[in-house]
Amino acid sequence: MTSSRNTLSDAPHVGFFGLGVQFHDCYRQLILALGREPDFVCDNAPEKWGKEFFGKKCISPAELTTFGDDTAIVITVRKYEEISLQLREMGLRHVFTACFDRGYDIVESIKLLGMERPADVQEYFVSPVQGKWTLVTGASRGIGRSIAVAMAKLGSNIIAHSRRIEHTKELVDACSALGVEAKPIAAELGNMDELEEMLDTLESRFPPIDIVFNNAAISLACGPNPWCISAEDFLAHYTVNAVAPIRTCYRLIPRMIERGFGRVINISSTIQKRPGEMAYACSKAALSKFTVDLAPSLLGTGVMISLVCPGYVRSDMGGPDAPHGLESVIPGALLGALLNCDVNGRWFIAQDYAGLSLQQAVARAKFYYGLEE
Ligand SMILES: NC(=O)c1ccc[n+]([C@@H]2O[C@H](COP(=O)([O-])OP(=O)(O)OC[C@H]3O[C@@H](n4cnc5c(N)ncnc54)[C@H](OP(=O)(O)O)[C@@H]3O)[C@@H](O)[C@H]2O)c1
Repeated sequence: MTSSRNTLSDAPHVGFFGLGVQFHDCYRQLILALGREPDFVCDNAPEKWGKEFFGKKCISPAELTTFGDDTAIVITVRKYEEISLQLREMGLRHVFTACFDRGYDIVESIKLLGMERPADVQEYFVSPVQGKWTLVTGASRGIGRSIAVAMAKLGSNIIAHSRRIEHTKELVDACSALGVEAKPIAAELGNMDELEEMLDTLESRFPPIDIVFNNAAISLACGPNPWCISAEDFLAHYTVNAVAPIRTCYRLIPRMIERGFGRVINISSTIQKRPGEMAYACSKAALSKFTVDLAPSLLGTGVMISLVCPGYVRSDMGGPDAPHGLESVIPGALLGALLNCDVNGRWFIAQDYAGLSLQQAVARAKFYYGLEE
């Protein structure tokens, strides 16, 4: 962990702003990164004002001004931009953000924020995936379809997987209409013979694959009683959601290493504390563990593997009541394919980039994780 100690340690008062999940889950880590306890905590929600959190009183933003403009504020929510602007407008000069990683379970750093905002980024975006071949599993609908179309718009050729060839016909036509090549492939990923046959076919009869989005997954209803999730339910989730993408990695990555280039993006989930969905959650944890632990083996090969949590979105899996639309996963879900810096083992939380352009998303990710080309 690193922190901008100079200004922070010199500040007469230090406060945390934004008392959400990350603040609660990572409070002790924040103290370690900061090297001291905060003097107060602050939030925009009136119902928190006057209450104590970890023994620190929560004040209102209006009360912040009484501490003087040399007070240092560390923003402790994922989307720091709006609060940063709010604090600047209040005349505060020492505004920092805590940067979280691993699906926001750990505090990676505390960074000084400048006056910049992602919307200011105007660089021309040269697509790094133009002419590459991208395999998207589970491309027929939902998040996979959004990823495939977005990659096609960036000039990548698409191999669109689903359970049946006809499920991706409309997508293949849509990608072809965008001027790229698009080919369908099918396999039931709950059947290892079908999976291996598909991987054989991809190797022998398709162009070499440069980029893979392991996106296909299942989330089955396991009954109302969290104590009675069956072994079959666990096995079904593990097979499709963990073993199939892991096997796909094992088959495709060695070819990528031979060619000196590859990007693997495993679509996972930060789902936690949902006992009724334990079979799904554990299968995603297995995929995430695999990805993070494999990453060091790829150093220097030109191949990188990363993780995406798309957020809770309105797809067939997420259902109609999910808070986010499908469009919100782009551009964040693409970062592992677009960034030409060390994204090996990184988590990208797609919702943090919702509404940003590709340039803005790339700039935000680079700042947040301290990435350099
Ligand atoms: N939706 C959310 O809120 C949410 C949240 C966190 C993470 N995620 C993750 O995001 C990814 C995409 O989710 P989604 O919401 O877009 O799902 P979805 O709408 O249910 O789409 C699932 C896709 O996977 C394919 N698929 C399903 N079962 C399969 C199997 N047994 N074998 C092969 N392919 C299969 C489907 O193909 P067919 O058309 O042939 O069935 C379809 O293309 C998943 O990894 C999911 O875990 C989603």
